[in-house]
Amino acid sequence: MADFSLTKDGAILFPNAKIYYDTGTNLAAFGERDDVFFMHKRLAYIRVYQQILGLHPANFFQNILEVGVFRGGGAIFLHQLFEPAMLACVDVTKDPIPTLDRYMREQNSQSIHLHLGLNQADRDGLQRVIASDLQSTVDLVVDDASHFYAETRATFEAVFPQLRNGGIYVIEDWGWAHGKRPEGKPAYAPAKKSPLPLITELLILHASEPNAIEDIHIPFHGMMYLVRGRAPLAPSFRLPRAEGASGGLRRLAWPWRKRR
Ligand SMILES: C[S@@+](CC[C@H](N)C(=O)[O-])C[C@H]1O[C@@H](n2cnc3c(N)ncnc32)[C@H](O)[C@@H]1O
Repeated sequence: MADFSLTKDGAILFPNAKIYYDTGTNLAAFGERDDVFFMHKRLAYIRVYQQILGLHPANFFQNILEVGVFRGGGAIFLHQLFEPAMLACVDVTKDPIPTLDRYMREQNSQSIHLHLGLNQADRDGLQRVIASDLQSTVDLVVDDASHFYAETRATFEAVFPQLRNGGIYVIEDWGWAHGKRPEGKPAYAPAKKSPLPLITELLILHASEPNAIEDIHIPFHGMMYLVRGRAPLAPSFRLPRAEGASGGLRRLAWPWRKRR
């Protein structure tokens, strides 16, 4: 594990890389620049990744999948902190990510593979990446992509079965739609659903198959992570539905009642 320190100008300093983190005020200044490494994560996230690393044996995290790359700073952070044998990165954008390309060149690193133009809802595409880059076993998954329900769910269904026993599945920013806004209206109101129903579905899976999801942690409001249990899940695995056309959450609250 590479040690890092924090700098006064809002960066994480590894021996080989300086990565600016999101301080809440520096996105406009750093978010578009190719000459700095910038990760779209606050310090609280970084602390949780540090804890996750500390709770596992050395060299546990050899195969990592990051979904949602942006400027590449998060990938560089994962690469520096966990020192994996392979970090596969997926993003729906087709635009090159010059900062990440530069990092790979500077580090002379073959241990990051970038898959652009791949939607996180593309189950087959994700499974192809896991088979080709990660030898079909993942130790850590970081979903920091769309933060929408259907897409986040599809990624989970495709990838969670291939997470190794004890492996970690992170979903970032799961609660974005539910934070309090000063004027009482959301600043960002897309047409797609927030991932909140997925959180309920994960709890149902945890309750019904405790050996599939061994543990669920919500270390703070922006982040959750699950620990994979030992129960095998078929590649065709699908989560239970928490809401839908026929009663959804209401029916789940009273599973003993007859359907009308
Ligand atoms: C929050 S940013 C990722 C930040 C990055 N992980 C970091 O720490 O710096 C979200 C990224 O997800 C990508 N994205 C959005 N929707 C996606 C989808 N459906 N499939 C894959 N990537 C998606 C966006 O293009 C964007 O680059």
